[in-house]
Amino acid sequence: MDTTSRIERSLGQALSLAAGAEGPPKLQAAMRYAVFPGGARIRPRLCLAVARACGEDQPALTDAAAAAIELLHCASLVHDDLPCFDDAATRRGRAAVHKAFGEPVAVLAGDALIVLAFQSLAVAAGGTPMRLAPLLNTVARAAGAPHGISAGQAWESEAVIALEHYQRAKTGALFAAATAAGAGAAGALDAGWHRLGERIGEAYQIADDIRDVVSSEAEIGKPVGQDRHLARPNAVGALGLRGAIGRLERLVNEAVEDLPRCPGADALRKHIRSEANRLLPRRLARPAA
Ligand code: IPE
Ligand code: IPE
Ligand code: MG
Ligand code: MG
Repeated sequence: MDTTSRIERSLGQALSLAAGAEGPPKLQAAMRYAVFPGGARIRPRLCLAVARACGEDQPALTDAAAAAIELLHCASLVHDDLPCFDDAATRRGRAAVHKAFGEPVAVLAGDALIVLAFQSLAVAAGGTPMRLAPLLNTVARAAGAPHGISAGQAWESEAVIALEHYQRAKTGALFAAATAAGAGAAGALDAGWHRLGERIGEAYQIADDIRDVVSSEAEIGKPVGQDRHLARPNAVGALGLRGAIGRLERLVNEAVEDLPRCPGADALRKHIRSEANRLLPRRLARPAA
């Protein structure tokens, strides 16, 4: 089965755990709306690519880990778009969840997706219980505090924000969980997998900051100029456009040069390069070597 089908199937299976005639229909619809149709699915694809590179032997567990990461990501977008955070009306080219379903349902849909990430992992790990505890820890670290998405979003309520702390927590942590969980689902435990995801995540947030400045809402399906409008620390503000592109390229080079040892390293390097080549609008990107 190809990567896209694996990811979509696993997300569908997870969401079915939250569906049922006895549940409130709007909450179920909002959860589904937040997950389907997806965006780039870059985190679950990375998770699967790392698992493959590590000699994946438990595909159902890998699929559940990839889905858990994407569910957390989708939940973070629902919450991030709320009026109390970025107050964004559009996401993935259509109304943000709170615009489509109202704020109370959006808050709850984000909460329920976070819980579902852990539940679906636990349900899928029945045959491999020894791998479950480290996986849960990896995923929880990326979602909570002090290193995860909650911490990242909470930096926005501080008077002084360090760009690296902010970006590492709000974005880098979930990419680090994607690589570490991909390796962990395949039984590989090496701190290098975490570092790989951190680098890719930082590069990804830099690309997002660049798109916020140079792209249009029609191109990226969400409001642009947000970082400036909301006075968010961002890579373009800190480094300038050329400086941000240079840092992104350095991070991608470091990521591929410093992969942990694994049987499928060459294919994983190719995967990372090809994803990186799609991060910036064509007019700005220099294809990576
Ligand atoms: C947007 O993430 C939020 C960031 C952390 C930059 P994505 O760009 O991965 O969003 P989708 O899933 O493709 O819509
Ligand atoms: C990502 O940062 C925040 C999350 C953890 C969801 P942004 O606020 O820059 O993401 P976009 O630009 O709204 O997708
Ligand atoms: Mg935002
Ligand atoms: Mg952004």
